[in-house]
Amino acid sequence: MLASMRTRPAVVVRDAEGLRRLPDRALARLDLGTGVLPLCIVRLRGEIRGVPDSCPHLGAPLSAGEFHGTAVTCPGHGRRYDMVTGRPVGVTGEPTAAYVVAVDHDEVQLRAAQPQRRRFGWWQRDRRKTRDGSATR
Ligand code: FES
Repeated sequence: MLASMRTRPAVVVRDAEGLRRLPDRALARLDLGTGVLPLCIVRLRGEIRGVPDSCPHLGAPLSAGEFHGTAVTCPGHGRRYDMVTGRPVGVTGEPTAAYVVAVDHDEVQLRAAQPQRRRFGWWQRDRRKTRDGSATR
């Protein structure tokens, strides 16, 4: 990690009330106490999304990074991770888990984010078949 990197998150959320007050697009750390993995969270379009608050590269706290679009930039070495899918952005590399964080009464609930359907790239589009078996172009 870089010596000058910021390692403290700007905001730490510890309970359901803190989640309700989380502003849109503000990056925060969800720390529910011992035994629960701290998450880097952000409220996106009314839904709170989270990834483990430890970069898959060398463990820097993602909640101390920067948030643009739907991706968080790690304060360690600048890798970017999509907060919706957990996938690295712009580089190949190890993805991280992704969660949807919800509040039901005063209980914080985590649910694994649904993996998104893979999109076809231009190199795969030529291989798709139509219903009658002929290749599309
Ligand atoms: S610790 Fe290296 S990119 Fe996150």
